[in-house]
Amino acid sequence: MKSSPWWKEATIYQIYPRSFFDSNGDGEGDLQGVTSKLEYVKLLGVDAIWLSPFYTSPNKDGGYDVADPRDVDPRFGNLADAKKMIDVAHSLDLRVLVDVVPNHFSDQHVWFQDALKAGRGSAERSRFHFYDANPDGTLPNNWISLFGGSSWTQVEDGQFYLHLFDSSQPDLNWESPEVAADFETTLRFWLDLGVDGFRIDVAHGLVKEDVLKDHPDPQGLSDALRLDMPMDPEKRYGLLPTVPFFDRQGVHEIYRKWRTLFDSYGDRDVMAVAEAWVHPPVNATRYVRPDELHQVFNFDLLDAPFISSHLYDVMSRSIELMKSVNTLPTWALSNHDSPRVASRVGEQQSRALALFVFGLPGSTYIYAGQELGLLDGVIPDESRQDPIYLRTQGLQKGRDGARVPLPWNGDRAPFGFTSGTPWLPMQDGWKELTVEKQLAEPKSSLNLYRNALSLRAEHLVNIGDIEWIESPLHGSKNPSLLAYRRGNVSVYMNLGESSDEVEITGKVLIVSAGTPDGRDGKITIPAISTLWVQH
Ligand code: NOJ
Repeated sequence: MKSSPWWKEATIYQIYPRSFFDSNGDGEGDLQGVTSKLEYVKLLGVDAIWLSPFYTSPNKDGGYDVADPRDVDPRFGNLADAKKMIDVAHSLDLRVLVDVVPNHFSDQHVWFQDALKAGRGSAERSRFHFYDANPDGTLPNNWISLFGGSSWTQVEDGQFYLHLFDSSQPDLNWESPEVAADFETTLRFWLDLGVDGFRIDVAHGLVKEDVLKDHPDPQGLSDALRLDMPMDPEKRYGLLPTVPFFDRQGVHEIYRKWRTLFDSYGDRDVMAVAEAWVHPPVNATRYVRPDELHQVFNFDLLDAPFISSHLYDVMSRSIELMKSVNTLPTWALSNHDSPRVASRVGEQQSRALALFVFGLPGSTYIYAGQELGLLDGVIPDESRQDPIYLRTQGLQKGRDGARVPLPWNGDRAPFGFTSGTPWLPMQDGWKELTVEKQLAEPKSSLNLYRNALSLRAEHLVNIGDIEWIESPLHGSKNPSLLAYRRGNVSVYMNLGESSDEVEITGKVLIVSAGTPDGRDGKITIPAISTLWVQH
C-alpha cells in the first residue's frame, strides 16, 4: 500500500553520491553511477531516494560547502546527468529528494569572493556575518565551531567572519533579503528540474541572534575552543540547548515562506525534511506545524544503546510528540554523519533493530550500505578527509568511516565500485557483504531488508496507531523483550542472548535471525532477533 501523502510512511534511501557507484573510473561515485544503480534501489523496495550534495564545491566538507547551489560539480557530472537521474528514478516510481544547504556557502562561492574584495561595511559583506575584533583585540564572540575550534576566521583586512562549521563554510546572514531570495531561486531551480523535495541542512541554524553576545559558557565552552584537547561529543551536544545560534524563532518564518513555495507546485506533493538538532525534543514539533515543513529528522536512534527501556523511551516519545502536531515521526539508524549502526550495536542487533523500526508508524530513512550490514571502514589516518579530523588535529577521527564506498561485486576491493582507486580505502574483509553475494544468499542482510520492505508495504503502511504489548510501561516481565501491535501484525524484538517464548498465535511473516519455532499458541523468538507475526 502507498501512504498518503507519499512521504508520510515512506522508506527513503539516502545516497552519498561520492560513495555509491563510480561510472568513470576516477575513484569517486557520480550521478551517472547513481542512475545506473537505480534498478538496484528499486529492487530494495524503497519509495524515494535522498542524495547528499552533488553541487559545485571545493569539497572541504563532503560537498556541504556549496560554491554554486544551482550546478553540478564536475566530479559528479553535469546538469543533464542530474535531469537524467531524476527522470529514470521517476520512471521507476522512485521520488527524488536533494539536499539544500542554507546555513552557509563555500568560501569559493562568488558571493564570498566578492565580499572579500568589497571590504568592510559593503553590501557584499552584509550577506555574511563579518565583524571587527572587540576593542581589546579579542574575537567578536566566544562561539565554537561544531567542527572544533573557534567559529571566527580573520580575513586580510582584519575583519572576522562567522562559520559554525569549517572555516571554508562562511555562515550566511538571513537578515539579508538577497539571501532569502537566492534560496527561493535555488528551491525553484531544482523543483523545475523535477525533484520531489528537499532535505534541509542545519535547518535550525539559519537565524542568529545577538551575534556579538558571548555564550555564557555554563559548561566549559572555553575548553571546547581549545584545539589541543579532544572534546567529548556528549559535551559538544550537551552545549546545544545553551547556544544562541540554534533554534531561534526566526527560522520558522523562513519555513512558512518555503512552504508557500512548495505548495505552489500543487499536486506535485513536494516535501521537505529538516535536519534540526533541537532541545528540548518538543521543539522539533515546531518545524512540522501545518504551515511549515513536512518532516523533521529524529536522531534519537542514531546513538541509542541496544537496551529495551531506552529504545522504548525514545520510540514512544517520538510517536507521542509527533501525534501532538497530528503527524508521524521519522526514523534513522545511520547516516553519513554517524557511525554505521552495525558497528555501533552489532550486526545481528542492527538487523533486529531495523526490522523493529520498519513496522513503526512514520517514515524510515535507510543510509546506503545499511541494507548490506556494512560496518564502518577502517581508515588509516593519512587517508582521512573529514574536516572534523583535520580541525581537531586528529583528536577526533571524524565521519569518514561511515562514508567508505559500497561493495558491489567480486572478491577483492574495490568490489566493482570503481575501476580506479576508491577515494577512501575499502576493506578486503567485505567480500561476503557485496550486493552480488547478498542477492544470492536468501538469509543475507540485503534480502532481509528487501523482504521486510515488501511486507511493510503490504501490511504496515496507513494502518494507524501502535499499541505496545511488551514494554517497561506495560510491566513487561522480561526486560529483554519489546513488542507492539499495529493493525493485524505484532512485532516482537528479543534483545537478549537466549531465545524467548511468547504466547501468540498467528503466522510468522519474517524474522531477522535464526528460526522461530511455533506450537500450541506459543512462538519462540530467537536470541537477538525481531519477528513479525500476522494474526
Ligand atoms: C550536516 C551534514 O549532514 C554534515 O555532513 C555537514 O558537515 C554539516 N551539516 C554542515 O553542513
